[in-house]
Amino acid sequence: MSIKYLAEKRAWFIETATTAYVFGVEEGNKLLHYYWGTRLPNQTDYPGVGPLPNQYVYDTHEAAYEYLGWGGINYTEPDLKVTFADDVRDLVLFYHDYDLTENNVSSELKVVLKDAYYPFQVNLFYRVFNDSEIIERWASVLNLGDTPTRIEQISSGTLHLPSPGEGGYRLTHLAGRWGAEFQVNRTNITDGKKSLESRRGHTSNEATPWFALDYAGPGRAGADEDQGQVWFGGLGWSGNWLVTVEQSTYLKGKGVRVSSGINPFDFSWNLKPGQSFETPVLSFGYTSEGFGEASRLFHRYQLRHILPAEFAGKPRPVLYNSWEPIQFDVTEQSQMDLAEVAARMGAELFVIDDGWFGARDSDHAGLGDWFVSPTKLPNGLKPIIEHVHALGMEFGIWIEPEMVNPDSDLYRAHPDWVYYFPTRSRTERRQQLVLNLSRTDVQAYLFEALDKLLSENAISFVKWDYNRPVSEPGWPEAPSAEQREMWVRSAQGFYNLLDRLRAAHPQVSWESCSSGGGRVDLGVLRRADQVWTSDNTDPYDRLFIQEGYTLAYAPRTMFCWVVDTPHWLGKRDTSLTYRFHSSMLGGLGIGGHISNWSEEEKTTARGLVEEYKQIRHLVQDGLIYRHLSPRDGSYTAVSYVREDRLEAVLFVLTLGRRLALPPAQVRLKGLNPTTLYRVEGVGEPFTLSGAALMQHGLNFGHLKYDFDSAKIYLSALEPGK
Ligand code: GLA
Repeated sequence: MSIKYLAEKRAWFIETATTAYVFGVEEGNKLLHYYWGTRLPNQTDYPGVGPLPNQYVYDTHEAAYEYLGWGGINYTEPDLKVTFADDVRDLVLFYHDYDLTENNVSSELKVVLKDAYYPFQVNLFYRVFNDSEIIERWASVLNLGDTPTRIEQISSGTLHLPSPGEGGYRLTHLAGRWGAEFQVNRTNITDGKKSLESRRGHTSNEATPWFALDYAGPGRAGADEDQGQVWFGGLGWSGNWLVTVEQSTYLKGKGVRVSSGINPFDFSWNLKPGQSFETPVLSFGYTSEGFGEASRLFHRYQLRHILPAEFAGKPRPVLYNSWEPIQFDVTEQSQMDLAEVAARMGAELFVIDDGWFGARDSDHAGLGDWFVSPTKLPNGLKPIIEHVHALGMEFGIWIEPEMVNPDSDLYRAHPDWVYYFPTRSRTERRQQLVLNLSRTDVQAYLFEALDKLLSENAISFVKWDYNRPVSEPGWPEAPSAEQREMWVRSAQGFYNLLDRLRAAHPQVSWESCSSGGGRVDLGVLRRADQVWTSDNTDPYDRLFIQEGYTLAYAPRTMFCWVVDTPHWLGKRDTSLTYRFHSSMLGGLGIGGHISNWSEEEKTTARGLVEEYKQIRHLVQDGLIYRHLSPRDGSYTAVSYVREDRLEAVLFVLTLGRRLALPPAQVRLKGLNPTTLYRVEGVGEPFTLSGAALMQHGLNFGHLKYDFDSAKIYLSALEPGK
């Protein structure tokens, strides 16, 4: 890992163990992109630096600018668009200076650009870590003048992909909806723009800011799980975001560009004299080993450099959550009864979901009033927490701070604390409105209320929900030049509130939830230790949701509950073992009405929780290998391999046996070929080399029926055995 500067070419080389990203200053003093792909042996090997010309420069209005200010003759997606105080809307950025810093963890480059005329500066930042293949970039802008400048569009950066030759690029992205988040979508890139975005005020259940591009052409298949070039990235932003993949008719055959950052839709920022504005971080990587390796590189980066360090190295506890069985019917007795059964099953964390506060008898009232319901829990939370602790579990709780029900004390006292336009009605979703976290008094109220809750009760886990998108985004109390800052200020307000609570209560770990998986991105994952993946807890549907999720995000963050059968959504009936195996693919939770489970079911569950605890270090900290995709047929097969290759666990689940399909044959991946592994879980245990397991694989003829499953554990024999 290093960042180097070559003075005679005025070029920078950002290199990881296998990847290089290169750009430089052209004669006109503008910053041009040169290369992103496999690391090459010499600096002069890179086009634009040595004998090979920069492949992108062939027409100034389509040049591959490293960070494009909207000005001059440019028609591709700009990174930055501003209006100066004199109404000039033309930004001309020239290279000014750079600074390179290094420590034993990372290297950071700052490249300074300045406008040709106005006292306006743009800093581009790049960072690489010595134990990661992922590169980070972001930008900040500074108003050095004495009049305000209006920012109308600002991205974290544009990434230029190399020429696909005769072929074309293909975009893989994750899209869906409530109950069906993270569905894998693949589309060919043609001339024009493909935008992935949120305009909803949160990351959204409909899409997540992650992309992967590969290309296919004559004689070249596209990438698959195990081979092929993949360029991928993700944006760390939980507000309105945008990823634009653009192929202009001029760029055709010359590459494709991806820009990502804050969504310019309805956005504007009044940058006052002396102020600066910083974008979210765009994290990106490249591999020639397919989508599987792209996921593994991104996951490892998340474990090492994104997830909060306090909990990133520790096992995620097996949790019990009472939402599905209890809903709003929270009583001391019902919680204590469930806690007893959960503890006997081996749960380590007991979480009370919605319904414990204010007048929260249903979703019609109470949001905003963050005090324990005096009618439902007259003794407060303490007796339940003590009971949970006595049973050997930690205690967790649900909150939804950014929301308010009109039927609440908070709203009655402060009807102006929500987003609204004075002449328009306030559209409710789930009988709730969105609090205006752009306001510091709203943030202060929430900090005080939640700080009190966490100070007065021994809470070690919080599920933080966000159950509706923003509408009527008015902030009439703000100066008109600043009202559209609310989209960004809301996300900043959320981060700020969570950061303050995290600092004040470092023992608490956090789960990000938004009607299921509506707030998952690299920004929230810097603060939340795990995610509620989807409200859809059906173990079969979950295989599709979870596959998409793990393309981008680390399995240790993906929480999966075992619930009752038949499932409430589609009435699908599945065995307890199948439900457990589906949930063991990430962080394990139980969310069923376990008091009603038979003794036999409770015993089976206890055994399966124990089995999970034996292998959770592989799921949570290992390397994921996807073998059979639920999208391709009748099986899902996924394995998790310890980084030193000494242990692995493989899960195989049937979806629905159809048309006498042959049984699944799964060839393991990522093992050490010469190591002997003991294989447990298919018949009597036996021993086989890594090579045999990877070349020939294992046959799952015994999985004959719908919703059948197996868990195989592989462990390296000690030398000599
Ligand atoms: C959202 C969450 C659920 C649950 C409910 C409570 O829908 O996704 O898990 O917490 O809110 O109201």
